[in-house]
Amino acid sequence: MSGIERVFMVTVTLLLALSVPSYTGAAVSGPCSNCHTMHNSQDGSPVVRDGTGVGWNDSAVLSGGSLSSTPKNRLLVTSCVGCHSSSTSQTIISKAGSNIPIVYNTTVPVNPLAGGNFYWVAQGDDTKGHNVYGIAGADGNLATAPGRNPAACSNSCHDTLAAAPSANNYNRGGCQGCHLFTSHHDDVNYPWYRFLKGHGPGPGLTLDESRKELGDYVVGVEDDDWEQETTVDHNYYKGAVATYTNDGTSLTNYQSITAFCSGCHSVFHGPERNGDGMGSASPWIRHPTDIALPVTGEFASYDPVTNYNAETPVAWINPANPARSEATVMCLTCHRPHGSDQPDMLRWDYSTAGTQGTGCLTCHSSKRSN
Ligand code: HEC
Ligand code: HEC
Ligand code: HEC
Ligand code: HEC
Ligand code: HEC
Ligand code: HEC
Repeated sequence: MSGIERVFMVTVTLLLALSVPSYTGAAVSGPCSNCHTMHNSQDGSPVVRDGTGVGWNDSAVLSGGSLSSTPKNRLLVTSCVGCHSSSTSQTIISKAGSNIPIVYNTTVPVNPLAGGNFYWVAQGDDTKGHNVYGIAGADGNLATAPGRNPAACSNSCHDTLAAAPSANNYNRGGCQGCHLFTSHHDDVNYPWYRFLKGHGPGPGLTLDESRKELGDYVVGVEDDDWEQETTVDHNYYKGAVATYTNDGTSLTNYQSITAFCSGCHSVFHGPERNGDGMGSASPWIRHPTDIALPVTGEFASYDPVTNYNAETPVAWINPANPARSEATVMCLTCHRPHGSDQPDMLRWDYSTAGTQGTGCLTCHSSKRSN
């Protein structure tokens, strides 16, 4: 390649890079002491704070719960729930150079992040969130994940995320029932979208299975403020156009957010075992996901490339290079994975007829003329 050609190539690459969404990276920043304690001891008292009510207060100081003389893994100052909670209504806490995304506020959150918030399920309404250990007890209505993956082991995260870590959930459960392999300092060797990964084919969850070559993780482009504001930019999720055939391999094969949810709720997407999946064409028997959003008919009026609606998001065959013809329907089109102020963790109020351009009618634009 000549020098001029190389300059041209670099310019084209830069232009392309500017026109498509790019990864922002999920590595933590700020002084070590924001999050770590070397000995869990300061002036003779413990530093670790844990238990019911722990979270960041309006001075960005960890408060509530109680001091604990039991040190934490990785020398952390609190648990997953503790560090991602706040007694304020703010959903990003800024503390001396660290921006901490809050998923559980103990007062009504202002601008919940993309995943929603555990506030409502913690108030005692089991239908408004995943019931997660450290936040809510077992779901009073659901003894297992609806549409549960019938092939998975029983008495595990596939039944409840509210159980304490134990051998049944490989000492994970709770937040780590979904965020199995966290990597707060490294988004390169552990590239999975928002720490969402499966546990490989193995009989057990060894750390070895955090290896990326297994491929069983969600791909996406991460918005740097977790969609606290959606007017500037937003997340891009990986979708697929696929009927899954095998529970164990769909996440590896498609790396889509829908394949991830299907790890526990597999029947709602497929696979087609006894005709109890979603079907494979209209007429569908369950609302389809990981299917293309048609460019014609009533769907033509929603162009998420130019007019993305964060209330009814879509996924993309290639999230780094979104194309209208490659937009797909996904589980998060209608649900918030942590919780919302609506039953079934829905993204909008499904108990009203709805208005044009919102909720179901964003896509099904011919179903009502008001
Ligand atoms: C002491 C504080 C602290 C603890 C403990 C902690 N986190 Fe985080 N976490 C953070 C911060 C800060 C970020 C934001 C990193 C960034 O800027 O992208 C984060 C980000 C995340 C994200 C989003 C990743 C992304 O791509 O933006 C997830 C998911 C998450 N944490 C889950 C967990 C889980 C599960 C645990 C327990 C195993 C945990 N966290 C423990 C502070 C903490
Ligand atoms: C905003 C919170 C935060 C800050 C600031 C932070 N860490 Fe961490 N660190 C974490 C979390 C959370 C983990 C747990 C790793 C995981 O599971 O993702 C961790 C894990 C670690 C580990 C264990 C190995 C690994 O990479 O997972 C080391 C070592 C470490 N941190 C060192 C540091 C040092 C040194 C600093 C200061 C330069 C620092 N951390 C600043 C949150 C933080
Ligand atoms: C049922 C699966 C599931 C459970 C359980 C779960 N998460 Fe998440 N989490 C997700 C998904 C999916 C996303 C990505 C949401 C998006 O980008 O739209 C996410 C995103 C996040 C983020 C980034 C902020 C956001 O809203 O996008 C953080 C931080 C986080 N989770 C922390 C936690 C913590 C802490 C817990 C436990 C209290 C937890 N999660 C439990 C599925 C889960
Ligand atoms: C690790 C297993 C697991 C994963 C992965 C998972 N779920 Fe669940 N889900 C459950 C369990 C268990 C329940 C029933 C108990 C509860 O509600 O917490 C449930 C319940 C639900 C409910 C009903 C809530 C209610 O209480 O009425 C919805 C909606 C839901 N999940 C959507 C999703 C979506 C969307 C995803 C993907 C982002 C997802 N789930 C991923 C385990 C999982
Ligand atoms: C992101 C766009 C989108 C949203 C939002 C959406 N749908 Fe759909 N829906 C589709 C697509 C695409 C199909 C498949 C259409 C086809 O195959 O012709 C579909 C199929 C259906 C079907 C089955 C039609 C058939 O031919 O079998 C029904 C019923 C339905 N949707 C109702 C709803 C309802 C009710 C809501 C709100 C809770 C909703 N949809 C939200 C895109 C969407
Ligand atoms: C078009 C919108 C839409 C999409 C896409 C969608 N859901 Fe739902 N989901 C709903 C609605 C509405 C309900 C309320 C119950 C009903 O109408 O069947 C619901 C209910 C649920 C429930 C609770 C069932 C119960 O028994 O309480 C679970 C679990 C669930 N969805 C998981 C999923 C998963 C997993 C996916 C992706 C494979 C998905 N949903 C895709 C709209 C949707």
